[in-house]
Amino acid sequence: MVSSGNDRSCYWWNQRNRELAELGAYVYTCSRNETELNECLQQWTTKGFQVSGSVCDMASSAQRKDLITKVSSIFNGKLNILVNNVGTNIMKHTLEYTEDDFSFFVKTNLESAYHITQLAHPLLKASQAASIVFISSTAGVVAIDIGSIYSATKGAINQLTKNLACEWAKDNIRTNCVAPGIIKTPLAESHLEDGKLLEKYLRRTPLGRLGEVKEVSSMVAFLCLPAASYITGQTICVDGGFTVFGL
Ligand SMILES: NC(=O)c1ccc[n+]([C@@H]2O[C@H](COP(=O)([O-])OP(=O)(O)OC[C@H]3O[C@@H](n4cnc5c(N)ncnc54)[C@H](OP(=O)(O)O)[C@@H]3O)[C@@H](O)[C@H]2O)c1
Repeated sequence: MVSSGNDRSCYWWNQRNRELAELGAYVYTCSRNETELNECLQQWTTKGFQVSGSVCDMASSAQRKDLITKVSSIFNGKLNILVNNVGTNIMKHTLEYTEDDFSFFVKTNLESAYHITQLAHPLLKASQAASIVFISSTAGVVAIDIGSIYSATKGAINQLTKNLACEWAKDNIRTNCVAPGIIKTPLAESHLEDGKLLEKYLRRTPLGRLGEVKEVSSMVAFLCLPAASYITGQTICVDGGFTVFGL
């Protein structure tokens, strides 16, 4: 199950979900936008992928419960993979963030992933070889001088990855996290408009370019494969070397 799928266009949705579906996984996904979701699901079914999904605002506790009930019914109470991809960001300096901003980002980026993972635990345990993959950010690994709430939620996801790896190994659940650098998506585009952040980022990125969605989704897929069976509790940066650039 991929905890977020659709977007402003099917292109992005395809990029995010394709990898696991191509490897033969039955993907269940969600979006807040019913029209776009159905359009994308139809395109995917036409391509022969096993995919279904439903509308869910992951910031709503009731809708998360409803989603897991649907997932449980489709997968007969067993879930092999949970990908927590939902996340959003508005770049502000710390003194500009309001109380509402704080609640919104914690709800969307942290509470939603925390709660859906709690709800999914019985299903993951029933699979006897399950894999959880969180999507955090390099902003939760190193610090930059803007976006502190976003970074705090992503840093918390990195920590949660380690805790669950320790707590749930006994249930045969591996837990890992992918921390992307700047990846070409609508979310990133909105932050790169003025060019300054882009220039700063590229200067500090050894590979000297932005990442592609596929470069993140392939890491997510790898972490779910038997090839990764001894990997748990790790946050893997897919960032062109951004987080290791010293000077
Ligand atoms: N792009 C980057 O440079 C970058 C870097 C580091 C980390 N990340 C992380 O990567 C993940 C994906 O980001 P992206 O760049 O692909 O962002 P995006 O283009 O804005 O897409 C965000 C996705 O999250 C979903 N979403 C957001 N709030 C939701 C909610 N309340 N309920 C259900 N779905 C919700 C959206 O679905 P709908 O709009 O269809 O509902 C959409 O599919 C996020 O966790 C982000 O923090 C991205």
